[in-house]
Amino acid sequence: MAPHSSSETVAWNFAAGPARLPDVVLERAAEELFRRGPDGACSVERPFSGPVFRAALAHAKQRLAELLDLPADYHILFMAGGAMQQFALIPMNLAGVGQRIAYADSGYWSRRAISEAGPLVDAIEVGRRPGDSILSAPTAGPWQVPADCAYCHITPNETVDGIAYQGLPECGSVPLIADCTSSFLTAPLDLEKFGMVYASAQKNIGIPGLTVAIVRQDLIDRSPPELPAVFSYRRQAAAGSCVNTPPMLAIQLASMVFDWITEQGGLAAMAQENLQKAACLYDAIDGSGDFYRAPVPSEYRSPVNVRFHLAADELTDCFVAEAESAGLHYLRGHAHIGGLRASLYNAMPLAGVQALAGFMADFARRRA
Ligand SMILES: Cc1ncc(COP(=O)(O)O)c(C=O)c1O
Repeated sequence: MAPHSSSETVAWNFAAGPARLPDVVLERAAEELFRRGPDGACSVERPFSGPVFRAALAHAKQRLAELLDLPADYHILFMAGGAMQQFALIPMNLAGVGQRIAYADSGYWSRRAISEAGPLVDAIEVGRRPGDSILSAPTAGPWQVPADCAYCHITPNETVDGIAYQGLPECGSVPLIADCTSSFLTAPLDLEKFGMVYASAQKNIGIPGLTVAIVRQDLIDRSPPELPAVFSYRRQAAAGSCVNTPPMLAIQLASMVFDWITEQGGLAAMAQENLQKAACLYDAIDGSGDFYRAPVPSEYRSPVNVRFHLAADELTDCFVAEAESAGLHYLRGHAHIGGLRASLYNAMPLAGVQALAGFMADFARRRA
């Protein structure tokens, strides 16, 4: 895939999100979404209840269902708002006021999820054993989750911390809910293991403003009938995600991204390429003779959010400035933990990662 090149500079975007879109999606979007037809309207100007948008929505749903091998009793909801909105909607829909829920603390976003849900529920922490490092993910296998919990919430890939689960917990009869915002569609997902997964769009699905939520029927049925319609999984499922005007542009772009993933060979192909990219960058870090360091132990490292820093921390600003001059952008770590981070979502080709690894080797040679 061609990198973005404006004038003579080749530029790669390593942002954690909003993140790079596939080139062909940008080209198709310009061609198909922003050209007026004989009705005087382009795709983002037509009524959401009309046949053109309804066909696009049906296509997006169908493509996503195929990619995920969606089991029959799960609903795909296209909802406005980000993943943070889901942090509040999940307890509103799936737990009684003050009911116990279980959550696992694996980093920044799982803590944000619980602090948003906290006022609505009685949250108890599960998954970690005494002495576990904060640089590890909770271990897979059976967890002690009390059976009266409404659900157990996990964040399989921690975007800020660069930590990924190596396997899924078993929570007995308690439904497992996952915030897959940074890992969605980067590898096959066994939906049968979950009551619900959700992901905001601006990493691997498309652009901000849309969150995809995939919810099992028995959880949809829990949604209190008195909940306002736009917040209700029950009402959104019944209305085909069109309780009100949905984020039409974001949904149509998502549909194009789903087509692109299908053309690339689906989620297994995405996973293979993502592992190759991650290996390229972690090898560059680990093989740098301690010039660069990845703080997360190898078994917990995220394949898509590669967190690292310079052993000589005072060179960080210089690294970032030189990287930008070399066309390698948005490499600063999250403000919460600092350091550096390269996000290698589906649309980042291996060539971009190789360009970064090459720059890092050159920088180390010059500065060591
Ligand atoms: C794992 C995870 N959850 C939640 C969010 C918040 O998403 P949004 O800004 O769409 O609400 C992010 C954003 O980066 C994330 O990475």
